Amino acid sequence: MATFKKHIHAMSAYKPPLDGRDPASHLLLDFNERTLPVSEAVTQALVEYIHAGRLQMYPAYADVETVIAEYCGVKAEQVMITNGSDQGIDLIIRASCSPGDEAIIPSPSFAMYHQCAKVENLTVIEPTYTLSEGFPLAGILKAITSKTRIICVANPNNPCGTGVSREAIAQILAAAPHATLLIDECYFEYSGLTVCDWVEQYSNLVITRTFSKTWGLPSLRLGFVVSCRENIQALLNVRGPYDINQLAIVAIRAALKNPAYTHDYVAEVMQKAKPALEQFLTCHHITFWPSSANYIWCFPPNPKALNEALAAAGILVRPKPNAQGEIGLRVTIGTVAQTERAMAVFKQHLGV
Ligand SMILES: Cc1ncc(COP(=O)(O)O)c(C=O)c1O
Repeated sequence: MATFKKHIHAMSAYKPPLDGRDPASHLLLDFNERTLPVSEAVTQALVEYIHAGRLQMYPAYADVETVIAEYCGVKAEQVMITNGSDQGIDLIIRASCSPGDEAIIPSPSFAMYHQCAKVENLTVIEPTYTLSEGFPLAGILKAITSKTRIICVANPNNPCGTGVSREAIAQILAAAPHATLLIDECYFEYSGLTVCDWVEQYSNLVITRTFSKTWGLPSLRLGFVVSCRENIQALLNVRGPYDINQLAIVAIRAALKNPAYTHDYVAEVMQKAKPALEQFLTCHHITFWPSSANYIWCFPPNPKALNEALAAAGILVRPKPNAQGEIGLRVTIGTVAQTERAMAVFKQHLGV
């Protein structure tokens, strides 16, 4: 006899297409990851830790929040580390909502918001992003009711890359003081968009960030939440004491000692490779969503064939349908050379 909650059985799992992803044989432009390995200093710190004979101990994080807080320009008491930002999203939704409450999750967006909302048996309202208007601010403001408990906004959004202005965020905070506004700044280092400086001012503002993307460490799973002290104290009551593994902490400490390694990569992606791809798409009349992140969601003719041609050339991208069911390809932007490699396949496909 099934003893789990009925609505949990009725859900479907979030299963990203991870099969066959091998950086030795493929250029991975399908998960918005960093396309170059981490620095030698990070690898060395991990190797040294493994050889230091401490793997049998439970993790201890000491003052890592202080280091992260310094990086973000907030206080240590306003930071909580999590097992990837996925865990932060889950904890924030669990701490904010009860079954039957309403969640506003603009669509399309990152799948975890929906998944976590469904686990809590929330009613999900989905205002839609559009190519012409971008972020559905009016739709969100209109959807706010007395039952709204969580509003999830990725800034910039995935898959469309849409950035959200501080003015729009301020309007939502003011319109829904009774709801948590989750601002997911997963791609912050690419976009430069943040409201971390507002956490003291707005008690309903909770931000998630990660070391998975720009910092290149998704395999180790380290994210963090930034919010006012009271919210962080409450979230610590929900998170387990050992949810983050020690190797993640070792790697992040080493990475943060040399931020230039990350910032140089970001500069190449955002200032060179991305404008080149945008120019190429514009020049060949391929529709794409304006993006503030390290990926572009574009709608070439015959996307299925192009996706296959890219795969045959050893390049993986991510097909994603829009609200009308048209398939677009979300292409992660890497270095200039990697982006040129992808554009060469585009050119062949277009016959130009
Ligand atoms: C918008 C957004 N938020 C969060 C995540 C998950 O990040 P993490 O690896 O920190 O769990 C992703 C991953 O693709 C994402 O696109």
